[in-house]
Amino acid sequence: MTDATTRFSLDGRVCVVTGGAGLYGRWIAQGLAEHGATVVLAARNAEACEAVAAELASHGLRAWAQRLDLADEDSIRELRDELMRRHGRIDVLVNNAVHRAGGDFFATEPSDFAATHRVNGEGLFLITQLCAEQMIHRRAGSIVNIASIYGVVGPDFGVYGDSGMTTPVPYAYDKGGMLAFTRYLATYLGRWGVRANAISPGGLQTDQDPAFVEAYAQRTPLARMAGPEDIKGPIVFLASDASAYVTGTNLAVDGGWTAR
Ligand SMILES: NC(=O)c1ccc[n+]([C@@H]2O[C@H](COP(=O)([O-])OP(=O)(O)OC[C@H]3O[C@@H](n4cnc5c(N)ncnc54)[C@H](O)[C@@H]3O)[C@@H](O)[C@H]2O)c1
Repeated sequence: MTDATTRFSLDGRVCVVTGGAGLYGRWIAQGLAEHGATVVLAARNAEACEAVAAELASHGLRAWAQRLDLADEDSIRELRDELMRRHGRIDVLVNNAVHRAGGDFFATEPSDFAATHRVNGEGLFLITQLCAEQMIHRRAGSIVNIASIYGVVGPDFGVYGDSGMTTPVPYAYDKGGMLAFTRYLATYLGRWGVRANAISPGGLQTDQDPAFVEAYAQRTPLARMAGPEDIKGPIVFLASDASAYVTGTNLAVDGGWTAR
């Protein structure tokens, strides 16, 4: 029997975070590394990933970076090969990268869907397939898909006010698809002990228009936007053995936004 603390440990685990240098990605990576994982930051901007890896290493955490373009199949295969060459295992895949395209509904082009689908559909599928192939050999693994509240509910356009911000429709389409993909993975891969779950975060506060931040907070039961630490507990839970009997679920980390 292991105690509850041990079950949250990621010691010895190799965790890949796509889009690892992005807004949420770096906090996801940090949370995993703080719990003992070796984190691999993989995104199109290799320099940004290297900077985050160096920052984590400066705190005594284990991380390395590799360029990954989810629109390029060779690049995805190279990441899998490098992971296997260095570690011989992949324990956790966090599908966090996202390609955004489109704008207001009437300004969005059909080609915006093709661009997002290439990364958020085809690329998401291939990296998951290649990592899952390695996981099933070891009969263990955790896949965590970073979806969104807008894969669950329609955007509340009122919070954007005059800020010029919006949620483009391809984003909502892809995030809804990601949640269906998560359930499919859970039922397909469960026979090998490989789990798949989603996290649907709410908006992370950065340097947005203050009127937007205020409107967003008012709309949210916990009365604020998300902060960087809010994603850490949920990601560690789903990545680790603490959630050993959890698969196919969507964990809303949204301050109650989707509870309304
Ligand atoms: N920021 C938020 O408020 C928010 C809210 C809800 C959900 N999310 C979700 O969280 C995740 C991260 O969002 P974010 O806002 O931190 O993103 P971000 O825009 O800050 O970062 C996106 C990352 O994806 C990478 N990326 C884009 N295209 C790529 C490609 N072709 N190949 C490889 N990497 C690529 C970028 O390099 C970057 O590292 C996304 O899945 C997003 O849907 C974010």
